Amino acid sequence: MSMIHDFSAPSESQAEEPVRIAIVGSGYVGLVAAACFAELGHQVMCVDIDQARVASLQQGHIPIHEDLLPELLARHNGKGLNFTTDLITAVENSDAIFIAVGTPSTENGDADLSYVESVACEISRTMTDYKVIVEKSTVPVYTSGWIARIMSRNQVPENHFDVVSNPEFLREGTAVQDFLHPDRIVVGTHSDRAFAIMQRIYRPLTSGEYYDQEASVPGVCSQASPALLIRTGAESAELIKHASNAFLAMKISFINCVANMCEAANADIGEVANGMGTDKRIGGSFLRAGLGYGGSCFPKDVKAFRAVGAQMGLDLALLENVESINNNQQRRFLQKVRSALWTLRGKRLGVLGLSFKGGTDDIRESPAIRMVQAFLVEGCSIAAYDPAAMPNARKLFVDQDVTFADEAVAVANQADALIILSDWQEFTQLDFSDIKQRLKYPILLDGRNLLDPRQMAGLGFTYMSVGRPTHAPQPTSNLIDRAVR
Ligand SMILES: NC(=O)c1ccc[n+]([C@@H]2O[C@H](COP(=O)([O-])OP(=O)(O)OC[C@H]3O[C@@H](n4cnc5c(N)ncnc54)[C@H](O)[C@@H]3O)[C@@H](O)[C@H]2O)c1
Repeated sequence: MSMIHDFSAPSESQAEEPVRIAIVGSGYVGLVAAACFAELGHQVMCVDIDQARVASLQQGHIPIHEDLLPELLARHNGKGLNFTTDLITAVENSDAIFIAVGTPSTENGDADLSYVESVACEISRTMTDYKVIVEKSTVPVYTSGWIARIMSRNQVPENHFDVVSNPEFLREGTAVQDFLHPDRIVVGTHSDRAFAIMQRIYRPLTSGEYYDQEASVPGVCSQASPALLIRTGAESAELIKHASNAFLAMKISFINCVANMCEAANADIGEVANGMGTDKRIGGSFLRAGLGYGGSCFPKDVKAFRAVGAQMGLDLALLENVESINNNQQRRFLQKVRSALWTLRGKRLGVLGLSFKGGTDDIRESPAIRMVQAFLVEGCSIAAYDPAAMPNARKLFVDQDVTFADEAVAVANQADALIILSDWQEFTQLDFSDIKQRLKYPILLDGRNLLDPRQMAGLGFTYMSVGRPTHAPQPTSNLIDRAVR
């Protein structure tokens, strides 16, 4: 939970020259950006078309699970930060408009930009004086050009707007800290006037002033080492975001590929990843083998980047392989569960984790959800627990053989095996002796390599993970090892 010292303290305005900001979209990115810009002292109006969501936000409810967000909203909601469905008024009263709506995949893998286009059209009807229109959503290169064209087509004079690409790199689960302590802020624009406004918006972070405030969110940046702002052209900024996500997805698929080699060679992916990651040229992050990447960004961004490449006549087959390795990772894990339990029909599985990763309630493109769906197809019944994602998962598994437990250990009750599907750190703290007593058989399959294999075998579990040898109380381990291969 919060590491911030005194969140009841009244907020001091950090920005020397507050900017009036409209944020369109109050999802994971829009809401975090809105709260963080208010935290920096700006006047923020956050707009959404979802009336129920806006009403709920106005009443102080928070629609997503995100560490530190409740504290920031409690501090700024109704003061520097307000919520509305009225885009026109929000635009009229702002100097910068951030578009933070969804950009999902179309059926052929392109980014669906219809939400961005519809917001741009609405904005264009309201532009009576100069404003900066900022792409916060992840969009393909040239989108800034299209937004500018929409403005011109709707008779917005050229000197009334600039379009800036300011991609967002936050990670769900640590979004507030990522936003306020970024590795870098990328601002893509050819206009000095627009750049000056963007500089004002981010100045509390780039000058380091924010980090000196008594009640600021702590993190890696400081007054002495403030946030870095990189100026690029708009097209470069758009490419930076897509290329970054594609690269990270590639890193995950690469390590999963190596994990599969480890399984064949009786090596340990933890040892291999550590040996690789300590090389500064490689770096240790995103070298965790598991069920593959998921979430609302990597799958769609890899597809969209490939689609952009194809439109340019470029061969991005590399990314096709990244995707197929990712999908294969979940098939392999299903095979591993089969090898541990023989047949799956009628088996009861205790599942820990439903979100696409620990720290979030987001189940979009979640490998954990995909695994549960695959288990259901095989005829299993599921008892599941997730610290945050159960309300979302309940809506998905209506009338299916899935029950939700009140506490993590309860999923083990009379289950044939315990299966870990999301990397919530709190799962590492569970009482596994108690869990073993509750299970029908002491079989544990860890799709996220969260636990220590020897420790689990020491507790009497047959423990299988990804890219690491199976550990089991003798003599079954050899049998299971052979079955997995
Ligand atoms: N979620 C992440 O971790 C993350 C990180 C970086 C970038 N991004 C990018 O940011 C963008 C937004 O992602 P998200 O996860 O916040 O999406 P989201 O689905 O959580 O939120 C989008 C919001 O936009 C609202 N909306 C749609 N059309 C609207 C309109 N015409 N007017 C006002 N509101 C409208 C929706 O009601 C919804 O609340 C995407 O392009 C995504 O790729 C996401």
